[in-house]
Amino acid sequence: MGDDAPFNRLRALRAARGLTQADLASAVGVSRKTINTVENRVFIPSTLVALKLARALGCRVNEVFTLDPVDPPPDSAANGGKPMNFDQIIDRRGTHCSKWDMMAPIYGVSPDTGLAMWVADMDFHPPQAVQNALQAVLDHGVYGYFGDDAAYRAAICWWMQARHGWQPDPDHIFTTHGLVNAVGLCLQTWTAPGDGVVLFTPVYHAFARTIRAAGRRVVECPLVQQGGRYEMDLAAAEAQMTGAERMVILCSPHNPGGRVWSAQELRDLAAFCTRHDMLLISDEIHHDLTMPGQTHIPMPLAAPEIADRLVMLTAASKTFNLAGTHCGNVIIADAGLRAQFAATLGAMGISPNSFGLHAVTAAYSPEGAVWVDALQTYLDENRRVFDAGIHAIPGLRSMELESTYLAWVDFAGTGMTREEFTARVEQGAQIAANHGTTFGAGGESFLRFNLGAPRAVIEDAVARLQRAFEDLQ
Ligand SMILES: Cc1ncc(COP(=O)(O)O)c(C=O)c1O
Repeated sequence: MGDDAPFNRLRALRAARGLTQADLASAVGVSRKTINTVENRVFIPSTLVALKLARALGCRVNEVFTLDPVDPPPDSAANGGKPMNFDQIIDRRGTHCSKWDMMAPIYGVSPDTGLAMWVADMDFHPPQAVQNALQAVLDHGVYGYFGDDAAYRAAICWWMQARHGWQPDPDHIFTTHGLVNAVGLCLQTWTAPGDGVVLFTPVYHAFARTIRAAGRRVVECPLVQQGGRYEMDLAAAEAQMTGAERMVILCSPHNPGGRVWSAQELRDLAAFCTRHDMLLISDEIHHDLTMPGQTHIPMPLAAPEIADRLVMLTAASKTFNLAGTHCGNVIIADAGLRAQFAATLGAMGISPNSFGLHAVTAAYSPEGAVWVDALQTYLDENRRVFDAGIHAIPGLRSMELESTYLAWVDFAGTGMTREEFTARVEQGAQIAANHGTTFGAGGESFLRFNLGAPRAVIEDAVARLQRAFEDLQ
């Protein structure tokens, strides 16, 4: 691990002053083992210890725990010295994971003979830095309340700056139990029963589910296909507005279909929100999973003029496969909106889960960045293999993904009913894939296939689908 990693300039600074770990430990009043674990990035010090360390080293705290973008560690240290092996088949059956252990009751596809390609998590281990951080928590073995999230916030800010060129203020970050939870909290904070909430459909299904469960109204604005990819039709949406819509929930990048919205599209949407006096909730959970040549633009960079009506939702969970730790962020620049959201969190008694904070802090690091670079390359090849196999089947079309690992396949060209193509995939190919109808209007002829799996699984899926539709060949 590089001495230049954030939270880990300690070793270099200590060595430059000729201090041993024991010297520093006694100056700060902690054990030598603590110094060692902080230097190896497996332990996040509290702000108090961080301040004492900085004082003992005669420098400012952000010289030790920097927020500056830094060079990635050398290859040998990229994944804690362990090879990154996305080809490894990891048997998740019987581990209480929804993807494999719920496929039989939901899709009638047995995990013994079938492939789970639905729920949006990946069949990969996270980076070694995350494993180390969680292992350190287990080794310590006391699972009490988490007390100081300064390093966590700093890690988020570092990541957003280093990967997306956006520097949020650490004080603007709230932590929730994931982003569906965040959407629910936003609805409670800024809408009332009966209010309209605009979605560009087809879109991530939990948005509509949460809106309806809260007694609000889903206003579906259908995406249109132009040149084989989705675009927002704001002229049509304009005509749908009645004055009773309070909020737009944007999915950026878009799930399903994988669009990476352009700066102009984001600016046009921002202007639409302003014209109709609506809040914009920008769910950017897929922001790191862009395909080569694509650049995700965070909403505050595309449209800084709407800071007073913008709520950003981000998370490390899709990027690093940490969904089960249920940790998401709501980032709000506007002080008034921030106070209102804080009031909701207070009223609900929400505080974060410590495992999520430890995992995310370790993931948002130079080691994590190297891992994500490798993941993006791997997913791009999965996409290529899958699309080539799908396009060899007459009548099937996989939308060209600009981001995400969620292939969106249109069966309309087969002329089959939804029941027939779904049966061929589930009972014929023995694949559990999300039904397009769950994503709202426009999804009827589609199934969504999760490509976040070892290449051999993708190749197997392609072979199964080609057999299930071989009479069309
Ligand atoms: C756009 C979008 N938002 C949110 C989520 C889920 O977020 P969480 O697991 O943090 O509740 C998903 C999962 O697929 C998603 O695609």
